[in-house]
Amino acid sequence: MIWDMDKGIVKLAPSILSADFAHLGQQVAEAERAGADRIHIDVMDGHFVPNLSMGAPIVESLRRVTHLPLETHLMITDPDLYLDEFVQAGSDSLLVHWEGNNNLHRTVQRVKALGKGVGVVINPATPASVLEEILRDVDQVLVMTVNPGFGHQHFIHTTLPKIRRVRQLIDEIKRGCDLEVDGGIEPTTAPLVVDAGANVLVAGSSIFSDGEGVVAAMERLRAAANESK
Ligand code: DX5
Ligand code: ZN
Repeated sequence: MIWDMDKGIVKLAPSILSADFAHLGQQVAEAERAGADRIHIDVMDGHFVPNLSMGAPIVESLRRVTHLPLETHLMITDPDLYLDEFVQAGSDSLLVHWEGNNNLHRTVQRVKALGKGVGVVINPATPASVLEEILRDVDQVLVMTVNPGFGHQHFIHTTLPKIRRVRQLIDEIKRGCDLEVDGGIEPTTAPLVVDAGANVLVAGSSIFSDGEGVVAAMERLRAAANESK
């Protein structure tokens, strides 16, 4: 372990992208009972990433059935156009990409002005160093460990040194900022990212596509995440 804040606490953020949408409320309730720390909602527009997923109505429906914080990962062009809508629907935090945003500082300030948590996301090919000037203003950093757009992809191992660099930056510049990872997180990769410094794990398919169910899957993931300690 190279990070020392909140030692021992790894948070799990189930991503509903891999949930059974015919039973979404039930699946989220199961994740809540199994100790999920927040629910991760992936929004895709078919432009920023080559896939479509869901929008604010899903957030609005989930807001009625769970007390968990709803974090919304915006994989969309022009996130500024939709910030109000997601906040009104019930999002507690908004995650916006560094890529494709010429005015990231403005976007971040807008989310803060709406009174919500804000995180910056970086894709696998984007270096940790781009975070240096924005880190003071955010509550979390999300390091993509797959290329965004789809669930069920393989973890990209070359992101591990970058997670370590982001942890270093956070420890130097913004202690208390969450370091979250997203993509290909399952029991074999969880200990690797925790060892590199991640303290929040997003997981979709390893939680919602597990044959033994959400509760068993989350227990396995949590146990694996704690292996590195
Ligand atoms: C991918 C999304 C992820 C996705 C992860 O673009 O941002 O949140 O749900 O899915 P898994 O955990 O299956 O890799
Ligand atoms: Zn995501």
